[in-house]
Amino acid sequence: MDLVVKVNAQSNLITNIEARRALLLNGTWQYIVDPYETGFYDYRYKELKESNTDAYWNSDVPVNKTDKKEHGYTDKNTLKVPGDWNHQKPEFLYYEGTIWYKKSFDFKPTGSGRYFLYFGAVNYRADVYLNGKKLGMHKGGFTPFNFEVPASLLKEKDNFLVVKVDNKRYADEVPTLNTDWWNYGGITRDVKLVELPQTFIQDYVIQLGKPQPGKAPARNPEVSGWLKLSDAKPGESLTITVPELKVKYQVVSTGAVTPINFKLINPVLWSPEHPKLYRVVVSSATDQVEDRIGFRTIETSGEQVLLNGKPIFMRGICIHGEIPQEVRRAHGTDDAKQLLLQAHELGCNMVRLAHYPHDEAMTRMTDSLGILVWSEIPVYWTINFGSQEVLDKAKAQLNEMITRDHNKASIIIWSVGNETPISQTRTDFMHNLITEAKHLDSSRMISAALEVNYAALKNENVVDDPLGEFVDLVAFNEYLGWYGGLPDQCRTTNWSTPYHKPLFISETGAEGKFGFHADSLTRFSEEFQEWYFKEQVAMFKRMPSNYVGVAPWVLNDFRSPKRNNPLYQEGWNRKGLYDDKGNKKKAFYIMQAYYKEMSKRVR
Ligand code: GCU
Repeated sequence: MDLVVKVNAQSNLITNIEARRALLLNGTWQYIVDPYETGFYDYRYKELKESNTDAYWNSDVPVNKTDKKEHGYTDKNTLKVPGDWNHQKPEFLYYEGTIWYKKSFDFKPTGSGRYFLYFGAVNYRADVYLNGKKLGMHKGGFTPFNFEVPASLLKEKDNFLVVKVDNKRYADEVPTLNTDWWNYGGITRDVKLVELPQTFIQDYVIQLGKPQPGKAPARNPEVSGWLKLSDAKPGESLTITVPELKVKYQVVSTGAVTPINFKLINPVLWSPEHPKLYRVVVSSATDQVEDRIGFRTIETSGEQVLLNGKPIFMRGICIHGEIPQEVRRAHGTDDAKQLLLQAHELGCNMVRLAHYPHDEAMTRMTDSLGILVWSEIPVYWTINFGSQEVLDKAKAQLNEMITRDHNKASIIIWSVGNETPISQTRTDFMHNLITEAKHLDSSRMISAALEVNYAALKNENVVDDPLGEFVDLVAFNEYLGWYGGLPDQCRTTNWSTPYHKPLFISETGAEGKFGFHADSLTRFSEEFQEWYFKEQVAMFKRMPSNYVGVAPWVLNDFRSPKRNNPLYQEGWNRKGLYDDKGNKKKAFYIMQAYYKEMSKRVR
């Protein structure tokens, strides 16, 4: 049986973390800002030994009055977790460097369990210490990770948890030095101390198998996937129940990973119109975890995208993980609700979560609201494609993104990157990522925002990026009339791709400052942006038959250090259909009307 989602045996990531027994460590943390990393290196710039009392992960309290202590955590210096530091202190708005976070907590171990420190995300590098011992280091600013805590290390009182967070940008990281978004640093998502049995259910895939090509799913479709225990324990009885469908499936574990395969009787399939989620209970001899899972199929068939065997048109919008009203990274359910209700108001059935995996609250919410998702790793622009180390970093983030969300029905596209400049080295690098993504999850479409060959033919732009051969969905960004020329170019421009695959516009947009009104030729006016979208919509109506959707850039105005027009931008990218205060611009209504029309035509 072909497992649609492969198991990543190396990953120790614990999934469905919200359903696990945990001590939430969110709240007020003390901090030390450390631009010279004095708490990590000695004066010869050598890493401090773990026991060195000058290290900022060791106690800051002098034992004797003769003790020399040159660091200390106090309530005078605190930050909220989760949350980026940039919006919490004016002096941190542009800060790029190291900040040490410290939290003391009491904990009564039950004695028989295993303990893991879980982080929803830390941007960009996290070095984690507990009671003076290093637990691990993680790189990647938008994906979860967890480190096991030896029970012997935990105390009932005053556990000293320290996290060194460094958000400096480097050429050989993912993303690289240059991005069109704010480099928000910090512990930006939830922190938990998770308590689990000695052998626990670490991860699982419970999804419908690949459908018969081009066919609607069977009335009684087959679930195919696997259960992964924390340890290889053959002979353990494992059970999956879906009470509402009267499913009780039992299997005996064959090791750490046990394939599963069973039928659902006449389930309600998940879709934007009917985002049905079922309560699913996974249990073993010593552990039990509940989840809410939607069952659907997604595939491409020729030049169409089929959801549950029927063609769909994706009425999308690109979203940054940012709450512009408070100029901060988005996290949690309320933020997810705010952003997705704006997308719903626009008439969307799909969101492109740019350019990095968003908080899990977002993909839980898209599952509940019935909004299709494009989820992406930040392989953005000019990554160092010639480096194996950089490829490994990108793969690690791809693994973490897919592992966290491989049971989310709303996610239909994994994207391995955005606007990467064509070269053989780059195409090999990206092809490698596409292959890895397909290996990890062949049940979803794999894509990326590809490059366009402008004016390849007379009045015709051709999406002939060599990566088009390997992706399922040929997606491209175009800014006809904003970057180069004026919007009326749209009238005489055609689009094509040599790949007989569905074609998707993954970005298109123009800037408009809310409240700035002028004639439509005046750049940065709402009228210019409105004209841009009027011309674009007219062009959408002339797209070739394999055009399956569009995701305008972007839902809200967002912060970027690259946008420095003193009148209209002032550090904001103004391509939002909403401004940074939630006001709708005139262009919003052009897209809303288009989506209203399209919603009547194709689901
Ligand atoms: C690019 C890029 C976006 C960027 C946008 C813009 O296509 O993908 O991240 O913000 O264009 O220039 O506004």
